[in-house]
Amino acid sequence: MMAHPITIRPMTRADLDWIEAQERLVFTDPWPKSAFKESLGFGGGLNVVAVNGDGQLCGYLCAQVVADEIQIHNIAVTPSMRRRGIARYLMDYAEEHGLEKGVACAVLEVRITNKSAITMYTDRGYQSIGRRRGYYRRPLCDALVLMKILDDSDSGDRQMAETSDGMVS
Ligand SMILES: CC(C)(COP(=O)(O)OP(=O)(O)OC[C@H]1O[C@@H](n2cnc3c(N)ncnc32)[C@H](O)[C@@H]1OP(=O)(O)O)[C@@H](O)C(=O)NCCC(=O)NCCS
Repeated sequence: MMAHPITIRPMTRADLDWIEAQERLVFTDPWPKSAFKESLGFGGGLNVVAVNGDGQLCGYLCAQVVADEIQIHNIAVTPSMRRRGIARYLMDYAEEHGLEKGVACAVLEVRITNKSAITMYTDRGYQSIGRRRGYYRRPLCDALVLMKILDDSDSGDRQMAETSDGMVS
């Protein structure tokens, strides 16, 4: 249970200065503001922020529906507001959005060194479907590709087994 009410609303251009500052604070390879502007312009894009009871921004998520999957491109929570369930709330929101759009699964990449994020994803049912070598820069790092089946009515067509080349079978 969260101590303060958190709401999720669409990201706007007015949020981007704060988001850019958070990116620099939180990531070693931050997205530039232009990447968020581009994300706001994508068709099928889900770009949202989390706002606390005082109206202050405390997190954000960017995702995109592509074919039958929702791809989570970015998620962060401001350090002083962590471990209060805000990322869980943002992920619930994105997965619900994907289901409303008729997707079968959610897919994302994460640095293999990012233990807290990997714990968050695996705890909510994401499984490894591959590894992209040298995917991240600053510092160079492999990405784990994680997937969660959201709608298993088609489960015969898509399984989370990892093949020898690290791709979905
Ligand atoms: C990863 C991140 C988004 C989690 O945000 P958060 O709001 O603190 O996460 P939540 O409070 O919703 O936690 C959900 C679950 O994730 C896991 N988790 C989150 N932070 C964790 C940590 N530091 N260590 C271990 N597990 C952690 C836990 O299972 C947690 O559930 P619990 O608190 O009931 O144990 C946040 O740490 C962050 O912004 N990190 C920097 C940006 C980043 O790495 N983004 C992901 C890129 S792929």
